[in-house]
Amino acid sequence: MSRILITSALPYINGIKHLGTLAGSMLPADVYARFQRARGRETLYICATDEHGTPTELAATAVGLDSATFCSLDHEVQARLGAAFGLSWDHFGRSSSPQNRALTQQFAQQLWEAGFLEERVTQQVYSRAAKRFLPDRYVIGTCPHCGYEAARGDQCENCTRVLDPADLKNPRSAVSGSTDIEIRDSKHLFLRQRLFAERLRGWIESKKGDWPLLVTSIALKWLDEGLQDRGITRDLEWGVPVNAVDWGANPQGARPDVEGLAGKVFYVWFDAPIEYIGATWEWADANPGEGGWERWWRAPEADDVTYVQFMGKDNVPFHTVGFPTTLMGVNEGANSPWKLVDQLKGFNWLDYYGGKFSTSQKRGVFMDHALELLPADYWRWWIITNAPEGSDATFTWEQFQTQVNADLADVLGNFVNRICKFAETRFEGRVPEGGTPGDLERRLEVDVAAKLTELTTLMEAREFRKSATALRQLWVLGNQYLTEAAPWTALKTDRDRAAVVVRYGLDLVALFARVSAPMIPNAAAAISEALGVTTDA
Ligand code: 2FM
Ligand code: ZN
Repeated sequence: MSRILITSALPYINGIKHLGTLAGSMLPADVYARFQRARGRETLYICATDEHGTPTELAATAVGLDSATFCSLDHEVQARLGAAFGLSWDHFGRSSSPQNRALTQQFAQQLWEAGFLEERVTQQVYSRAAKRFLPDRYVIGTCPHCGYEAARGDQCENCTRVLDPADLKNPRSAVSGSTDIEIRDSKHLFLRQRLFAERLRGWIESKKGDWPLLVTSIALKWLDEGLQDRGITRDLEWGVPVNAVDWGANPQGARPDVEGLAGKVFYVWFDAPIEYIGATWEWADANPGEGGWERWWRAPEADDVTYVQFMGKDNVPFHTVGFPTTLMGVNEGANSPWKLVDQLKGFNWLDYYGGKFSTSQKRGVFMDHALELLPADYWRWWIITNAPEGSDATFTWEQFQTQVNADLADVLGNFVNRICKFAETRFEGRVPEGGTPGDLERRLEVDVAAKLTELTTLMEAREFRKSATALRQLWVLGNQYLTEAAPWTALKTDRDRAAVVVRYGLDLVALFARVSAPMIPNAAAAISEALGVTTDA
C-alpha cells in the first residue's frame, strides 16, 4: 500500500488567514489527509509558514518588531488557529528553520555546480525615499501583457503572468505610492529554467487527464508563452543568505562572485517550496522514531510515496515549473532522486460576495473571527461543499446560514437526534437485540453500500464538492429509512420490529460519524462519543 505525502501551500506569515486561504489549500489537504489515515494508509501532512520576503520585513517594521520576532509570534498564532480549525498537520513548520536554510543553500550549490545557475547584472527598482530596493510585489504598475493598472511586480493578479518589477509600465512604490524610484544595477543568480522547458512540457503532458484541467492548462499556458530564466536572489536582509553557501565550481570552472552577492538572500519563492522538504526534516528531528525525512523525499526509499500537493491557482506556476526545475536540476545522477509531485490539486478562488477576500483591506471572514462566532465544523462543511473546484465560488452569510442549517441540522443532526432519542427513551439507551431484518433493511444495505463506494471513489479523486454531496445523500438515506420504517409506530404492535430499526439506525449513526470525520471531525467525535465508539480520522 502506498504511503501518502500531502503538502498544502504554505501560508504567508503576514497575519491571520481568511476562508479563501483555507478553501484553496489547507482545508482540502486536511480532509484528504484525514481520509487517507482513516483508510489505514501511512500519511504525512506537512505545512509551514512562508516567512521570508519583503512583505514580512514591511509587516514587522509596521509593528515595530524585527522580522525574526514578528515571525515567531505570527507562527504561533497561525499554528493555534489551524489547530482550532482541526487542521491535522503532522508538522507545521517554518520556512526560516535551520533545516530549510541548509537545504536551500545545498540546492543552490548543487544547481550552480551543475551549471543551472547563472550570474547576471539586473536592474532593480530602488526607492530613494525609503533607501531600499523595492523588489517584486512592492512595486506596482501597469502589466505589460494585459494592461491591468495595479499589477504587482512579481505576478499580475489579473492575467496571472509572472513578472519582473522592471517589466512594469509606470512603476511606483506600493508602500508609499512614491514614484521617487530609480533603477539600479544589482548582481543576482538566475535559475536557467529555459533549459528545462521541454522536459517540463513532457512531464506536464503526461499528467493531462490525470491532474485537474485547471492545473495542466495553467502550466502549459506558461510553457507556451516561453519559459524565462528566473532570478532566485534578492536585495533583502530577511531570508536565507546567499553568501553563506559553500560554492564549488560550475562546469566552466567558475565560482559565483561572492562579494557581488554579499548581503543578498534567496528569493522567497525559491526557498518556500523547499520548505516542504525542510518541514519534513523538522518533523523527523522532532520524531526520531519515524525513520527520517529522506524516506519521504528521496528515491529509492520514497518510491512507494504518492505525493499530493494542494494550492490555489496562482501558486500553480511555481509548483509546475520553478520547484520541479530545482528538483530536476540538482544533478545527482541522470534521474534526480528527489520526489516530484504525483498529484497536484489546484483550486479557483473563493470570493466574498463576488469580490476578493483581502487581508490588507480586512475584507471577508478571517479564521479568528469565524471561530469566535461558530464551531469549526460549520465552516469546514460549508467550505468543502462549496470548494472552488470547477469555477470560482462565493461566500455569503445568507447562503452559509441556509446551507449549514439544511445539511448539518436538518439532515445529519435530525437523523442522529431522532434515532438516539428513540433508543434512549424506548430501549434504555442500549442497542436492542431481536427481530429479523426485512426488505427495507436489505434495500438500505444496498443503497448505503453503493453510496459509500461512490463517496470513497470521489474522495480518492479529491473531488471535494461531489464528495460532500455524496456524504449528504448518505445521511439522507438514514432519514428516509427512519421515516419509512417508523419504529415509533412498529413499537405499538411489534417490539422486535422496532428493535431491528433501532439497531440499523444506530449502526448508521456510527457509520455516519466514521465517514463524516474527515470533513466534520468535531461533530463526528461527539457523535462517536455519545455512542461509545471511536473514529480514527
Ligand atoms: O501564495 C501563498 O500564500 C504562498 N505563501 C504559497 C507558498 S507555497 C510553497 F511554495 F511554499
Ligand atoms: Zn496582466
